[in-house]
Amino acid sequence: MKIIMLGAPGAGKGTQAKMIAAKYDIPHISTGDIFRANIKNGTELGKKAKAYMDAGQLVPDELTVELVLDRIKQKDCIKGYILDGFPRTIPQAEALDSALNDRGEKIEYAINVDVPDENIVKRMSGRRACVNCGATYHIVYNPTKEEGICDVCKGELILRDDDKPETVAKRLSVYHDQTQPLIDHYDAKGVLHTVDGTVDIDVVFAEITKFLGE
Ligand code: AP5
Ligand code: MG
Repeated sequence: MKIIMLGAPGAGKGTQAKMIAAKYDIPHISTGDIFRANIKNGTELGKKAKAYMDAGQLVPDELTVELVLDRIKQKDCIKGYILDGFPRTIPQAEALDSALNDRGEKIEYAINVDVPDENIVKRMSGRRACVNCGATYHIVYNPTKEEGICDVCKGELILRDDDKPETVAKRLSVYHDQTQPLIDHYDAKGVLHTVDGTVDIDVVFAEITKFLGE
């Protein structure tokens, strides 16, 4: 099962991808999470990615494509995977298509989580992420049992650096320019499924499992 998640920043890609990965037992590969882990660990890649991310811009394709193509060659990807936040540009999608094509494989599902821009800023300001394990919550829509403490690992919760309203606005404009065209790209391949991302988290997930299967 090879799946990609499409959708604006804050649409709920990560939230749904984690649930899909758990249900179908495939790895969840989030380029944003990989970059944030590299920033936290002070790697060369993290140093390069940070300036772009803080500005709400995309990390250049040359730093992103090889990283993902190497990751999906690993053993745990044999049954499939869910890519969250990649591809994000037409060149990234073409590089992925061509690498899969060389192996006689293809993306089977492109899930587009549809949320209008008006809802996004509200969601982002309430999002909290665990510094330790990356679990994501929302102070209103998906709160933790204990305030400020991760339910999974008891780590500390923080507001992401790029969730400030002005950076969110920039990320939305980058999304419309560079990532939204991927919706047509995957529609043309006959693998696009658009779900309404404005309803409750469990309702979105139920919609997704309708086409992924029980
Ligand atoms: P990335 O980490 O991928 O961020 P993003 O795409 O902007 O998406 P988010 O993670 O912000 O949102 P999400 O859709 O995962 O929503 P979530 O589930 O958290 O990328 C960050 C940066 O890294 C980029 O800006 C770029 O610089 C760089 N980067 C990454 N990949 C790259 C690539 N391929 N190429 C180049 N650069 C790249 O949900 C959001 C909030 O809403 C949460 O609080 C959640 O609890 C809540 N929520 C979720 N669903 C619902 C619902 N149905 N109802 C109510 N609340 C909900
Ligand atoms: Mg995410």
